Amino acid sequence: MLDQRQHSMLDAMGIQLWSRRQQHQPGDIVDVTQPDEAEEQLHDWESLQQAVETCHRCGLAATRTQTVFGAGNQHAELMIIGEAPGADEDRQGEPFVGRAGQLLNQMLLACGFSREQVYIANILKCRPQGNCNPSPEEMISCRHYLNRQIELVAPKLLLAVGGVAATSLLDSDKPVGQLRGELYHYGGQKVPMIVTYHPAYLLRQPSEKRKSWEDLQFAMRKLGDLS
Ligand code: URA
Repeated sequence: MLDQRQHSMLDAMGIQLWSRRQQHQPGDIVDVTQPDEAEEQLHDWESLQQAVETCHRCGLAATRTQTVFGAGNQHAELMIIGEAPGADEDRQGEPFVGRAGQLLNQMLLACGFSREQVYIANILKCRPQGNCNPSPEEMISCRHYLNRQIELVAPKLLLAVGGVAATSLLDSDKPVGQLRGELYHYGGQKVPMIVTYHPAYLLRQPSEKRKSWEDLQFAMRKLGDLS
């Protein structure tokens, strides 16, 4: 049985261990330092998706309509990482299908990508109740799934949209305004990553769209350099 520090070290080295956990109820405090008995390696898309669909690693399992795994091109050059499903996504089982999703689609089109050409996933696979920010425990519980998705897609570039995705992936507490404009490298595979504003934030603050467009142009330039 590995402790949390050993799990973190394996994560940092890009080695994925998978564990099934007991079922949790909403509001449960999940002790992520106590991984469960049966650890399994998840190799392919099918086993990964099935593990997500049957996941009970945190209390959100009890309140979700369904899990929201991810969508798009499994060999995409560009992978978008958002925060967590909202009400629309929870209902439809697909990421970014609400108003923020429509804006994301337009942002992608402006970069010459259709939604189907990129891969879209979230930090959390289940909707947080009442659209709360994901808790650290929920994000840790879900991280293995996202890491494996990133490994399988093997994108040239990750685009983290919004503060939750950016700070969680970069283990930072800086706001997006300070994280954008830099090229980062994520995880053991050192996947290039750029940060921009969340489309839901841009719907509330349309004046920030210009900065977001600068970020997208930066991302397109980096994608060009990486090809
Ligand atoms: N916001 C996100 O971060 N992800 C979604 O899937 C929908 C809205």
